[in-house]
Amino acid sequence: MNVNRRYFLLGSAVSARVVSGQAADRIGTAVIGAGNRGASLLRGVIEQPNTKVIALCDIKADRLDKAATAAARDNPATYADWRRVIERKDVEAVFIATPPHLHSEMAVAAFQAGKHIYCEKPIGVTAAQVRAVVRAARSAKRVFVAGQQLRSYKQLTEAVGKIREGVIGEVIMVKAQRHAVADIAHDGTSGDWYFDVTKSGGYLIEQSVHNLDACNWVVGAHPTRACGFGGALLYKNDPPGRTIFDCANLVYEYPSGAKLSFTQNVFHPRTLPNGAQYLYVFGTQGAVDLLYSTMMHPRAREAKPSELAPKQKEPEHAHIVAFYQCITNGAPNPADITVGATAALTSILGHEAMVQQKVVNWSDLGVDV
Ligand SMILES: NC(=O)c1ccc[n+]([C@@H]2O[C@H](COP(=O)([O-])OP(=O)(O)OC[C@H]3O[C@@H](n4cnc5c(N)ncnc54)[C@H](O)[C@@H]3O)[C@@H](O)[C@H]2O)c1
Repeated sequence: MNVNRRYFLLGSAVSARVVSGQAADRIGTAVIGAGNRGASLLRGVIEQPNTKVIALCDIKADRLDKAATAAARDNPATYADWRRVIERKDVEAVFIATPPHLHSEMAVAAFQAGKHIYCEKPIGVTAAQVRAVVRAARSAKRVFVAGQQLRSYKQLTEAVGKIREGVIGEVIMVKAQRHAVADIAHDGTSGDWYFDVTKSGGYLIEQSVHNLDACNWVVGAHPTRACGFGGALLYKNDPPGRTIFDCANLVYEYPSGAKLSFTQNVFHPRTLPNGAQYLYVFGTQGAVDLLYSTMMHPRAREAKPSELAPKQKEPEHAHIVAFYQCITNGAPNPADITVGATAALTSILGHEAMVQQKVVNWSDLGVDV
């Protein structure tokens, strides 16, 4: 047997496996969903020396054509039905970049067919969807990487590591936000699903899942409960039929007692200070502006601020590189099923608190992660 034709999948969650035949030289890959994100992921896949794009899937013919042109090097087959892609034996790795409500069903089917999965965030928009992926992942013993690519940022990883080691003492509070200047384009490429809460989950679940994941990461835990209020206060029934909120004001509590205050909105004027995203971590000995300066501000009166981790080049497709390294040599997974599920559930917890207008407990979600 040719040793070069083996992929050893190391680590406790993934059992060793041998691939024989042609595809073993290059990892047969499929991309399901060839919209904004799918096109970007596809570029990342093509950049890798050890991949072969076997299949592409989208229900929109123009996007499928565009993707097929981008991947012409590999002459991939194209499909409108994602199940045909999953059925293919020569597909080893599947990227899922469809609207969020479809992720869970597709990921479960891909696991059942023995595929490695890179699944865009959020991995589900309801606790039941997340639960289904967690269960499938636990028994599948295949690589699962959630599209929480902040987890592959080097500067952030270094800064989070130092905070977790205690550089600002015990983390006692986090204040974070994700503000935008306007709604996403109503006639844009995602306009046909975004404003339906059952499909996107809304801004908190679809976008702030990145920010809330970073909060969990730096605290080193998931919250135990959440409360807060939200609504569609500016974009009322705009576009018509809208069921997603345009703002969220939330408080989360962690097992240590640490508190997280989080806001999201899409009406922060361009010229108003403190827009966009930030994440301040407060510890007993100081605070850190984590996104993206990593400046640490000690509480001691005479102490000067200093950078926790230097700015560095963040390769655009580092998370995709990490996915393939997990498959080929069992490298550490930056955003495994626990990370992906916890991130999604944290957003879902906040969403449920706003919808139910009460304190919602993590245990109420009924997912064991
Ligand atoms: N990680 C990130 O930073 C990041 C950034 C943007 C988007 N995303 C995520 O990527 C996913 C897609 O977002 P997007 O911005 O690319 O949206 P998009 O609307 O541009 O693309 C989604 C694509 O999925 C296709 N699709 C819909 N139903 C399908 C089906 N049943 N089978 C096959 N294809 C189907 C659509 O036709 C569309 O082309 C979302 O989950 C989003 O949250 C992640």
